[in-house]
Amino acid sequence: MNTNELSATARALVAPGRGILAADESGGTIKKRFDSIGVESSEDNRRAYRDLLFTTEGASAFISGVILYDETIRQSSLDGVPFPQLLTSQGIIPGIKVDTGAKLLAMTDGETVTEGLDGLRDRLAEYHTLGARFAKWRATYSITDVLPSQLCFDANAHALARYAALCQEAGIVPIVEPEVLMEGNHTIERSRVVSTSALEALYRELYEQRVFLPGTLLKPNMVLSGYESKTQASDDEVARLSIETFLHSVPAAVPGIVFLSGGQTDEQATARLDAMNKLVPHPWQLSFSYGRALQAPALKAWKGEPANVSAAKAAFLHRAKLNGAARNGSYTPEMEAVGA
Ligand code: 13P
Repeated sequence: MNTNELSATARALVAPGRGILAADESGGTIKKRFDSIGVESSEDNRRAYRDLLFTTEGASAFISGVILYDETIRQSSLDGVPFPQLLTSQGIIPGIKVDTGAKLLAMTDGETVTEGLDGLRDRLAEYHTLGARFAKWRATYSITDVLPSQLCFDANAHALARYAALCQEAGIVPIVEPEVLMEGNHTIERSRVVSTSALEALYRELYEQRVFLPGTLLKPNMVLSGYESKTQASDDEVARLSIETFLHSVPAAVPGIVFLSGGQTDEQATARLDAMNKLVPHPWQLSFSYGRALQAPALKAWKGEPANVSAAKAAFLHRAKLNGAARNGSYTPEMEAVGA
């Protein structure tokens, strides 16, 4: 295992002012996104949409890496350049989603465990030859009054650690993503307790399975009030409780925490990252690995029309720039006005 290379890649992904674009929507998820703008999810349309994002001039100032899906890492731009090569030529590191989804966990009340370990060593070797230098594996946990169960935390942590160790052997930085879902009417305090349990189980397994922490990144949820809760915590409260949670359970050896947006609005995802970066000191880089919060305005502007491509690129660049500002706590809501 080349530990120097792994930690250099992990640090490059959380370089100051930059963060990750999650463009690894599975076939089902991208169809949902395209349905929302009335566009058919054909291979050509998916390629045209990803081309638009990856050829946005100036985005590389704010985007350090892009997470791709299996189909996308094998596709080429409209100009015929393989996507991983196109990204690398702009100083953007290609990444790949390698889990195969959350499946029902036996003997539980509808909880899930994320699968994808079978054959993973060979798949990682192939992705490395295709240019991937980091990967993502997402586990999910739903909050009810009594769930998640410890079994769900442990089963997912075990799989995440096995994935992480295999990635590092293959020269690929694993992003470990234990996502506590925010659907529900739970309080932010309950969200903190559940997030803490998920992180504790995760780091226990990462230590047990000898994963090299400086060559990893953590992709967690922010600690939020349940989306249906009547009491919604303020951005400052979200920032304070999130940082408290991570200080309690994420080792300082981890170079960066790259948040998912998880259904927050674009502005909330940016403002809360900004608020966290204003709270110093903390031992990690605090960055973004957003899917929806980076792409939503671009998708809406595009609508599948070639004539809208430049407006869509401008919308994507704008969000990337604002999140770049949130990386060092210099975002202000006034910057939301286009052209600011
Ligand atoms: P969202 O930012 O849309 O939650 O997606 C990030 C991601 O990659 C989830 O796995």
